[in-house]
This record gives sequence, structure tokens and C-alpha cells, in this order.
Amino acid sequence: MFVLRKALQDIQLKDILVPKGMHIQIPIPILHQNTNLLRHDAHQFKPERSEDGILGACKLAKTFIPFGLGTRICVGQYMAMIER
Ligand code: HEM
Repeated sequence: MFVLRKALQDIQLKDILVPKGMHIQIPIPILHQNTNLLRHDAHQFKPERSEDGILGACKLAKTFIPFGLGTRICVGQYMAMIER
């Protein structure tokens, strides 16, 4: 699952220039297994790490985006979370 975006203007991300018009793909499963951004055990299946909410599960809460982000965030996210 990817979050897909198109740069509407030139964007400078530290030493990386994303030129206007470039398509960007953020691979959510790979992002969520990044031990630098989430936790040292991010690659392990441990749903109990979210018992106390997202802040307890991640070093940086903004890097946990299972339903995407921004104006195109998943419209079914609340339904998905209450379904069993
Ligand atoms: C575990 C369940 C689900 C996951 C992980 C998930 C994940 C996602 C992700 C990552 C996106 C892209 C968001 C972005 O580009 O920022 C998305 C979009 C979307 N999702 Fe879900 N989704 C789930 C369930 C659902 C359900 C149950 C519905 C409808 C009942 C739904 C409807 C949609 C729609 C319509 C979009 C497009 C929104 C837009 O482009 O404006 N999703 N979802």
C-alpha cells in the first residue's frame, strides 16, 4: 500500500530536491518497519505496543500513517477501526 502524491511546486527536503510535477510514492509497510522512525522492534508483529495509543508505539507519531495523511486520508478509517 502506497500514499501517492504529485509535487505541485519544487520542494527541498534537506539535500533532496523534489521538482514540481514529480510523482512521489510513500510505501507504508516499509515506512512502518523503519526502526529509526518507529521503534527498535518495529519489524516484529506486536500489536500490544499500541495499547497506550500511537505515542507509545512510535518515536515520531507523524511517521505512523496506516490510513494515509492530509486531505486524501482514508475516508473509511474510523469504520475500519471499529469493525471486527
Ligand atoms: C484497515 C483498513 C484500511 C486501510 C489500512 C486503509 C488505508 C488507506 C490508505 C493508505 C489510503 C490512501 C490515503 C492517502 O492517500 O493519504 C486510503 C484511501 C481510501 N480509503 Fe481506505 N483503508 C482502509 C479501509 C477503508 C474502508 C473500510 C473504506 C470505505 C468504507 C475505505 C475507503 C477509502 C477511500 C474512498 C479512499 C480514497 C480517499 C481519497 O482519495 O480521498 N478504506 N485508505
